[in-house]
Amino acid sequence: MEAKRPSESFTEMTELVLPQHANAIGTAFGGVIMSWIDICSSIAAKRHCGRVSVTARVDALEFRAPIKIGDVVRLTARLNAAFKTSMEIGVRVEREHAETGERALCADARTTFVNIGDDGKPCAVPPLLADTEEDHRLAAAAADRRKRRRAGSGSS
Ligand SMILES: CC(C)(COP(=O)(O)OP(=O)(O)OC[C@H]1O[C@@H](n2cnc3c(N)ncnc32)[C@H](O)[C@@H]1OP(=O)(O)O)[C@@H](O)C(=O)NCCC(=O)NCCS
Repeated sequence: MEAKRPSESFTEMTELVLPQHANAIGTAFGGVIMSWIDICSSIAAKRHCGRVSVTARVDALEFRAPIKIGDVVRLTARLNAAFKTSMEIGVRVEREHAETGERALCADARTTFVNIGDDGKPCAVPPLLADTEEDHRLAAAAADRRKRRRAGSGSS
């Protein structure tokens, strides 16, 4: 199976926050942002594996700043690590300033997707090719988190 670079699956999505995305105080509803995070990660996972993967886990989801109706929101998803049948993906959600285009981080999360074969069972993912120091740092951190999680729970 051919290894792929993180740049090959990097995904960027742009959304406009409309009234139907908002809560009673005019800021984006958390569940809508979570859905966009899931979609953005699933596209990155699909670009890496070339087939459909399912969400197994969401970690470290933090809403850091409110997003208002009318804001343009940019989501990015990047593979941090590929394991046997699973992948850890880092997602950032940024608000774009309407006049300056300046971006501010509003939320971030790490998702784990599992690649699914034709038999409906987990199947192998292509290895992730780490080129840069940052690629190596992110992959090592993801492997460490997974190791600690497995040691803690005795599973996944
Ligand atoms: C995710 C799922 C496919 C895993 O299936 P499973 O039979 O438990 O598979 P395994 O135990 O063999 O685990 C397969 C991989 O998933 C990982 N995994 C499973 N559950 C996990 C979890 N909760 N967190 C992190 N990784 C998980 C395992 O570590 C393993 O990774 P690896 O192959 O890279 O080492 C299964 O639990 C499932 O279908 N869950 C529902 C998914 C879903 O409906 N998502 C929402 C809609 S897309």
